[in-house]
Amino acid sequence: MSIAEKAEKVKRQFLEELKELSDDSHQIKLFKDKFLGRKGLVSDLFSSLKNLPNEKKPEAGKILNSLQKFTLKNFNNINSDQKSKEDQIIDITLPADPYFVGGTHPLTQTLEKINSIFIKLGFSTIYGPEVDTDFFNFEALNIPKHHPARDMQDTFYIKDNIVLRTHTSNTQIHTMLNNNPPIKIIAPGRVFRNEDISVRSYCLFHQVEGLYVDIDVSFADLKGVLNFFAREMFGENVKTRFRPSFFPFTEPSAEMDVSCIFCSGKGCNICKNEGWLEILGCGMVDPEVFKSVNYESEKWTGYAFGMGIERIAMLLYGVKDIRLFYDGDIRFLSQFS
Ligand code: DAH
Repeated sequence: MSIAEKAEKVKRQFLEELKELSDDSHQIKLFKDKFLGRKGLVSDLFSSLKNLPNEKKPEAGKILNSLQKFTLKNFNNINSDQKSKEDQIIDITLPADPYFVGGTHPLTQTLEKINSIFIKLGFSTIYGPEVDTDFFNFEALNIPKHHPARDMQDTFYIKDNIVLRTHTSNTQIHTMLNNNPPIKIIAPGRVFRNEDISVRSYCLFHQVEGLYVDIDVSFADLKGVLNFFAREMFGENVKTRFRPSFFPFTEPSAEMDVSCIFCSGKGCNICKNEGWLEILGCGMVDPEVFKSVNYESEKWTGYAFGMGIERIAMLLYGVKDIRLFYDGDIRFLSQFS
């Protein structure tokens, strides 16, 4: 058989076996050794060149070179196919990519804490409307038109008679008009005020309203509940004080302060060296409010209170700028999850 015939035979054998070749890396190695190894079939043919007469060597050498090129090229092709298959293999024992877990917004966390304290005391949670009539937001709460108390809250009017509620106190009226006493509710929610946006104030914020109506409710009951709340919220050692104040819908009215949670009442820049932080407004339900919801004002007594959730969250978490709660900045929010 001439070299050319032998080369042709090796080439055919190579192609046949290549077709049948499996993905198994051991089989691939055997195949490579068989054709391309140092003692493989192609090498064998090169070795047999020395037995040829000199004038036939150049021609035979050319044939063998092209056979070697052909087999190498085809072998490298299957090798790269094999490699890309290996790249597709999924190692199911690898740990999964960490997935991003969201967290509860700090205001929601604060609200949940406030809710849970009052639920322990037997209050139910109720939600009132954010868009309401003048009657519920002002009139029925003893804030008549042109009353100077309306200046306390800069109102967003939707229409003449329709407002974005400026406080959650509107829910007191809804609850009393829809239910007979006794009533014991808290009403959390958003409120809106047309104020300049700054570090301390935003055009919307959150409040929790409280209302208790029954027979023989006293200011002492109110103090007891709010003192319990303060200790649960800010810790066993917190002190409280009640300062006389004015709200049109309560009489008498008060504001409750807690001893500064940053300096324990010694005085620091957060409490402006007073040692106290104002937390909420409260008082005994004004008989005028009972009249506007057709409750017998001689029979029923009650207390109410209202607090700002942002203010409490800012104190609890040491947040200096109220706007951070509304920016949705993940760098801020992720600190609370
Ligand atoms: N509505 C008041 C405000 O937004 C807060 C408030 C004060 C609510 C005294 C009350 C209360 O129920 O008794 O400033």
